[in-house]
Amino acid sequence: MSDERQIGLETELRHSFLGKVRRGVRLWWSGEVSLRRVVNAGLCHLSLRRRSPHVLGKPFFLMIEPTNACNLRCPLCPTGRGTLGRKTTFLPLGLFKQCIDELGASLLEVNVSNYGEPMMHKELPEMVAYAKANAPGAKVVIGCNAHFLNDESAPRLVESGLDLIYISFDGVDQETYEKYRVRGHFEKVVAGVKALLAAREALGRTNPFVELQFLVMKHNEHQMDAFRTMAHELGVDRRIIKPVSFNVADWDDADTRATYGEFFPDNEDYRVYRHEGDSWHWKKDELAFCTAAWRSITVLADGSIVPCCRDPRGVYTMGNVADGVLEVWNGERYQKFRKAMAERRDKMAICKVCPGE
Ligand SMILES: C[S@@+](CC[C@H](N)C(=O)[O-])C[C@H]1O[C@@H](n2cnc3c(N)ncnc32)[C@H](O)[C@@H]1O
Ligand code: SF4
Repeated sequence: MSDERQIGLETELRHSFLGKVRRGVRLWWSGEVSLRRVVNAGLCHLSLRRRSPHVLGKPFFLMIEPTNACNLRCPLCPTGRGTLGRKTTFLPLGLFKQCIDELGASLLEVNVSNYGEPMMHKELPEMVAYAKANAPGAKVVIGCNAHFLNDESAPRLVESGLDLIYISFDGVDQETYEKYRVRGHFEKVVAGVKALLAAREALGRTNPFVELQFLVMKHNEHQMDAFRTMAHELGVDRRIIKPVSFNVADWDDADTRATYGEFFPDNEDYRVYRHEGDSWHWKKDELAFCTAAWRSITVLADGSIVPCCRDPRGVYTMGNVADGVLEVWNGERYQKFRKAMAERRDKMAICKVCPGE
């Protein structure tokens, strides 16, 4: 396995939906996931092929937001910018469990983070442990800014059974780091990474797999090699290099665009958009269709269900976990949404500027 992966760049290999199903078959063959999960993913794929508004399978990817609160103020993140427009809240453990109870037999992956800092939720380890116990075989993942990783929290997280953690790490010194991670403390992040690796070793575990992520921006692009060295010295499992972007939901927002102008890197290879006059396009705009609404759901901290993580404000809320996840999944709103996607994705406010997945 390579010790570095690049997200969102031309070099990235995108896995097609069918590729994901094939991966499921491979996992079943190796005994990692049950045949039931693979059959479920296949049913989702069949519905997608037919562009059917009703999906035969259950969602097999769950993104669930423990909280939309955050300690940092990253200038291009809707949470950091203070433009989320949602009440700051913490997902009740009961709603989390309900999602897992309803979807546990179909899930291949659960990402317990979205907009906010997941480690600010005190019951995060309980959530991860519940997902591991009740969605056996599903990979459980979080992304965090590492400010709440310490000698006390790290062992709890390791013991929860977490499979993978992405840690945001966008600079190799305080001055560089805090330009994007506003209010952040570089030394705290370094200490957090060390605490996690030490806890993993002390507990004799191999998980979580630790990936350190570097967002390439104008002010830090000169530190990419220093980042690689530091990641190696810290002993993380893999590095991620990711170009800075801004949320598709903010595509037409002049303030966000102006802020983006301050951050996008000089190095053309690490830009995610192509500039043409005044307009920008994703370099990957050749992508034909988006599969998200046929295979995954995103749950916001108040229990709202939205079709994908690119709806930070819950504009496309399909229902609430409290109404029953599966009721919502094939409910009227979701079916209308899929029908609209199938017929006119290029005209839907949020989808028309998204490269899809
Ligand atoms: C919204 S954050 C939530 C998790 C956590 N608070 C964090 O920052 O890692 C989810 C992911 O988005 C990334 N991110 C933040 N701002 C970004 C930007 N402008 N472009 C691309 N990714 C960004 C973060 O580094 C993180 O990997
Ligand atoms: S740390 Fe994560 S959630 Fe918080 S403001 Fe930054 S990107 Fe957004």
